Amino acid sequence: MAEGKKKLRIGLFFGGRSGEHEVSLASAKSVMENLDKDKFEVVPIGITKEGSWLLGVDPVRLLAAEQDVTPDANLEQTTAVTLTGDPTLRRLIPVQGGEPLGSSGSIDVLFPVMHGTSYVGCGVLGSALGMDKEKMKMVFQSVGLPIVDYVVYRRNEWERSLETIMDAIEQRFGYPCFVKPVNLGSSVGVSKAHSREELEHAINVAAEYDRKIIIERAIDCREVECAVLGNDEPIASVVGEVISSNEFYDYRAKYIDNKSQTIIPANIPQATAEEVRRQSVQAFLALDLSGLARVDFFIEKQTGKVYINEVNTMPGFTQISMYPKLWQASGVSYPELLERLIELALERHADRQRNRTTL
Ligand SMILES: Nc1ncnc2c1ncn2[C@@H]1O[C@H](COP(=O)(O)OP(=O)(O)O)[C@@H](O)[C@H]1O
Ligand SMILES: [Mg+2]
Repeated sequence: MAEGKKKLRIGLFFGGRSGEHEVSLASAKSVMENLDKDKFEVVPIGITKEGSWLLGVDPVRLLAAEQDVTPDANLEQTTAVTLTGDPTLRRLIPVQGGEPLGSSGSIDVLFPVMHGTSYVGCGVLGSALGMDKEKMKMVFQSVGLPIVDYVVYRRNEWERSLETIMDAIEQRFGYPCFVKPVNLGSSVGVSKAHSREELEHAINVAAEYDRKIIIERAIDCREVECAVLGNDEPIASVVGEVISSNEFYDYRAKYIDNKSQTIIPANIPQATAEEVRRQSVQAFLALDLSGLARVDFFIEKQTGKVYINEVNTMPGFTQISMYPKLWQASGVSYPELLERLIELALERHADRQRNRTTL
């Protein structure tokens, strides 16, 4: 960026009222460390588990405060805010107790490093579809992407007719089968059920997290992931494999035991890798995403068949997360990746501004 040009102010959001709160804080820490300080000024906005927005809080401090017995001590220097649009500046500005903190505090680009429910990143539709495993599959199916057979129940339906529902699941999938809350990620509330007893427990667990529960046929599979970057002409990275340290890639295997491995590029036939990359771009466009997404697949061990599992519109973003590592292996460094994402956000915004808003 040219000398003397104003730095772009990046509103970095993280935390939030989500089962993936801690995951978001870890990602935000990496993003903060890697944004080019010569080009960008970071305005950190941490969202507590209670939903308060704190301006100026550091993700590491927020985590420390939350784990502390005297939680407020670490957060004294922060300001509780909300954001509002500034109609003259066409920008977002932080507001405290109804008083704007001044246009000097305005934000040029929002960078939400959030996982889980209630937040936008890929645009409203794309983010919503990316969170709802049922609607996502419906869209995949409509464009001919291969999905795993599934069924969805509502929580109150489940509570009324446990036995009938379990009979139906046993008939359709047998064991093992997978049970998940429809709207969540990071494997929170996901179980592999091997018996009727486990199935009942698994559905009860999933029903604690969401009002919709999805049950899927279990695939005996390898798991591969592909990173997509772009807006209207997205590109796909090399493909990486995840080797889980547990029976499946659960929360523990993802974030706690540190024993899961990633292999980049995945050691799979070239034709399979090409298929995965092609489907990744197709899924990105089908869900109307923008900026970034990580697309996850199962490759059935016995047949080599590829199934699309899900799209993550705000994938894990620490430096050792799959998404940045896939780009690294494809020739895009972490700081370059952040810069590209900001460019893409501005590009998409400019494109939206072209829409006519009067009759
Ligand atoms: N149908 C399935 N067959 C085999 N493994 C599955 C299936 N569904 C989920 N899994 C396992 O559970 C993990 C988490 O499920 P996933 O649908 O990716 O949920 P999340 O959005 O929480 O990541 C997957 O990475 C995989 O290891
Ligand atoms: Mg997943």
